[in-house]
Amino acid sequence: MKKEKLDQLLEKLSLEEKVGQLVQLGPMFFSEGGEITGPMQAMDMTKTELYQIGSVLGTHTKEEVKNIQSTYLEHSAHGIPLMFMADVIHGYETIFPIPLALASSFDPSIVKEMARLSAKEATSAGVHVTFSPMADLVRDPRWGRVLESNGEDPLLNATLIKAYVEGYQGDSLLDPETLAACVKHFIGYGEAEGGRDYNTVDISDLVLYQNHLPAFKAAIDAGVKLVMTSFNTIRGIPATGNRWLLQDVLRRDLNFDGVIISDWASVHELINHRVAADKRDATFKAANAGVEIDMMTDNYQHHLVDLVKEGLISEEFINQAVMHVLQLKNDLGLFEDPYRSLDKHPEKEIIEVELRAESRRIASQSMVLLENQQAILPLQKEDQLALIGPLAESHDLLGAWSWIGKTEQSVTISEGLLSKTKQIEMVKDRHDYVKLKYVDKVIVALGEHSEETGEGGSKTEITLPQEQIDLLKEVYKWNQNIIVVLINGRPLDLTEIKMYSRAILEAWFPGSEAGNAIADVLYGDVNPSGKLPMSFPRSVGQVPLTYNMMSTGRAINEYNHTQKYVSKYLDNENTALYPFGYGLTYSNVKLSEVEVIDKGDNVTVNYTLINPSMLDAQEVVQLYVKDIVTEVARPERELKYFEKVFISAGASKKCSVNLTSEDIAYYHPDLIKKADDGTIELYLGLDSQAPLIGSWHYKA
Ligand code: NOJ
Repeated sequence: MKKEKLDQLLEKLSLEEKVGQLVQLGPMFFSEGGEITGPMQAMDMTKTELYQIGSVLGTHTKEEVKNIQSTYLEHSAHGIPLMFMADVIHGYETIFPIPLALASSFDPSIVKEMARLSAKEATSAGVHVTFSPMADLVRDPRWGRVLESNGEDPLLNATLIKAYVEGYQGDSLLDPETLAACVKHFIGYGEAEGGRDYNTVDISDLVLYQNHLPAFKAAIDAGVKLVMTSFNTIRGIPATGNRWLLQDVLRRDLNFDGVIISDWASVHELINHRVAADKRDATFKAANAGVEIDMMTDNYQHHLVDLVKEGLISEEFINQAVMHVLQLKNDLGLFEDPYRSLDKHPEKEIIEVELRAESRRIASQSMVLLENQQAILPLQKEDQLALIGPLAESHDLLGAWSWIGKTEQSVTISEGLLSKTKQIEMVKDRHDYVKLKYVDKVIVALGEHSEETGEGGSKTEITLPQEQIDLLKEVYKWNQNIIVVLINGRPLDLTEIKMYSRAILEAWFPGSEAGNAIADVLYGDVNPSGKLPMSFPRSVGQVPLTYNMMSTGRAINEYNHTQKYVSKYLDNENTALYPFGYGLTYSNVKLSEVEVIDKGDNVTVNYTLINPSMLDAQEVVQLYVKDIVTEVARPERELKYFEKVFISAGASKKCSVNLTSEDIAYYHPDLIKKADDGTIELYLGLDSQAPLIGSWHYKA
């Protein structure tokens, strides 16, 4: 539909009909043919109001979408189709690894492919918009939602967020296999105090601009269609009612011109935050701030019209908001085809075969090998194995936000291993422990329950449960050739696990093909290449702990670390047990011939990667900088470049990277981003503890 037609349509709508476009409800409102029962009754919603709403959240099947859309269109006055939105976070029915695992791939092409395939499956079930990607930068593993994130680094986060948006949205939303993306949660949600979900956030503008904005900017620059506000406060005001944040930062500074949607009931929760007196006041605050769609409450439905009539909210705002919604429906081709070619998708079974194969490949690229003492891995065909542990035969491998995925259809670790070997003992109880003695290697499958992670999954302890640690110690008494496979959704304190294992594979929640992907990596059919996107602390007491902590006035070093009045703990080290960017391969890839060419306003670093092994490998090369003198305190080091490089067995490869002023520009106290002349130290390596390779004397 042409823009003029959209304008004409908007003109035809009454104020009530316009407000309806800004209301989003769940499918259950339609389940009784629009009769006023259950949730509708509780919300005091009339049938007329129901057939004016703009979008629906959380349908399950294409039949459900078809029914709702057709009933709706029969009743709606202007034939404006509904838009269907859902949380398609790491797959729809076929589940891929959790986002934190995808981030461990350090590979935007993996993320993009996952998003493209999720869109294909979700659109075949009638979904138009996904509430993904989550761009919240995270620093606290106690927060359950770290699972949905790309971890602690702004560059990695921004790079992957762009890949998500490109993957979901493809080249054109008119392609029925694409989804419109909604980047969330704007902004700062990852900084919830104490890692407790929905808790207060209080960060400086510098932290906001430097650390949190880049990923949102990347999404917006990539053309993301929606932004979701967060539950938390920023500068003391909840994001959903924060005019400065939504107007000055999001609309003006980030130049966002799409739909702003609240999070689930976050308009209403302005009352709980005690910044709004009642529903009318909450509606005023949210609309005045610029929130356009009210997700899952009746605040807008029942108060926005009056606020406009009384001149408190301008009709201009309403028109702009409704136009954003209509424009998105138009971008999706819904006016031409409200069912968006639902029946033109390939058969469900055909999609599933492709997705299953890719889910396996992507999961194997997302795992991080944390330990491999005396090269106990990869497993050899002739190895006699035992498998033990609470996750050995469990199907709880999908992780949070896999509501359509079928847990029982995931491949277990035992099934995956059995497909590669028959020489494996399944050790289920104490009577079987004696078998442990007679095998070459024992695989111990440990981890978290999916319910312990995700939204509402905050914890004060990040160790594994004591009974799992006791089990590991028991196994150690019988056989010390232990390979631990971890299934979990957050950085854990692995101090004790490390003491009793020779290899540790961080498999995260790998998704539908979990067992197969784990077996692929354990047997070396896939050479592990994942890197940690978040630091793994030695103790929860160190949290928040990231590789890019700020310089302090009393940093410890090799000379002063025994003194008392320096920035350190009395009972533990400052460093992570496993740092950001860390992860092993089976190939012991080496960096050599590193050369820094300082050209003043830019610098080039050349390097060679050598793969001395008999296996093809992928290594993630990482370049960090330290700006020696800056106007505001800056991180000890910051990632400025990473690249996953493929190197054939026995081969070497020459690579090169160039940095310019853009890479070292930072926000000054006036929130202007620019680079200062001066010395920049460069660190190149295979994790965030990369060694110093030289300096760049930057001059504009
Ligand atoms: C609440 C969550 O915070 C958000 O991430 C999600 O997209 C919405 N619910 C919709 O389910």
